[in-house]
Amino acid sequence: MIVDTHAHLYDPGFDRDRDEVIRRALREGVGAIIAVGTDLDSSRVSVELAQAYPWVYAAVGFHPHDASRLTPEALDEIASLAAHPKVVAIGEIGLDYYRKLSPKEAQGRALEAQLELASSLELPVIVHCRDAHAETLAILRLWAGRRSLKTGGYIGVMHCFSGDEREGMELIGLGFMISFAGPVTFPRTQRPKLVAMKLPMTELLVETDCPYLTPSENYGQRNEPAFVWAVARGLAEAREIPLQEMASITNRNAQKLFGLSLIRKEDIGDPFPIPVYTGRST
Ligand code: NI
Repeated sequence: MIVDTHAHLYDPGFDRDRDEVIRRALREGVGAIIAVGTDLDSSRVSVELAQAYPWVYAAVGFHPHDASRLTPEALDEIASLAAHPKVVAIGEIGLDYYRKLSPKEAQGRALEAQLELASSLELPVIVHCRDAHAETLAILRLWAGRRSLKTGGYIGVMHCFSGDEREGMELIGLGFMISFAGPVTFPRTQRPKLVAMKLPMTELLVETDCPYLTPSENYGQRNEPAFVWAVARGLAEAREIPLQEMASITNRNAQKLFGLSLIRKEDIGDPFPIPVYTGRST
């Protein structure tokens, strides 16, 4: 079994066959999926999916692209969604200076407000960072210092990690895990493989970030949670360990960080007696 720690299941790319995609993942041994929101609507849908499918969990939050829409009211709504027992993290949050779809100041404010929310709810965070490594680390360093005084232990994950070994080790020192996605499988991209080789196994996670970042062996297809096996295979090859060992290590790590449990298809029965999720009731 394996866990996909980062899937954008609300994405319109899944509108045609979302239910089938989610069931196929379970059939192929994906025992837990974290459905990650990027704004209010997608966070709501992620919670509804977590409610509908036993093997789906949710993360709620505003992505840096949507940071300028994070009003105080929206933050309150995120807080109330986060009260759902299957919400396992605040995310995805962070900084993205590559596309800069929200102004830098709005991104910084949204990140800080959501980090504080995560602290007050004692939830881990799922962090996105693109072309803003120094700025993100500076904010996380301050937050982690305050937070670890209270809780200790793991406090979040840097998703789809694109930094170097030094950044990875600093994040781990702060209480973060490091998650790898499709790029670890790309034949012409060396950095994630080289970085993944050096970081401790006890802090590694795998994810698809679907429908984006399709692993190389599924080239040309829409990415989906079942393809998380390809990511784990890429990571296992970089580390020169068997795939099953990589899967069980990353499962253990995901359980430690998010407190989730894995479901086997035998636990549910096939065909699964679960009503098809047909979208928002409101
Ligand atoms: Ni994402």
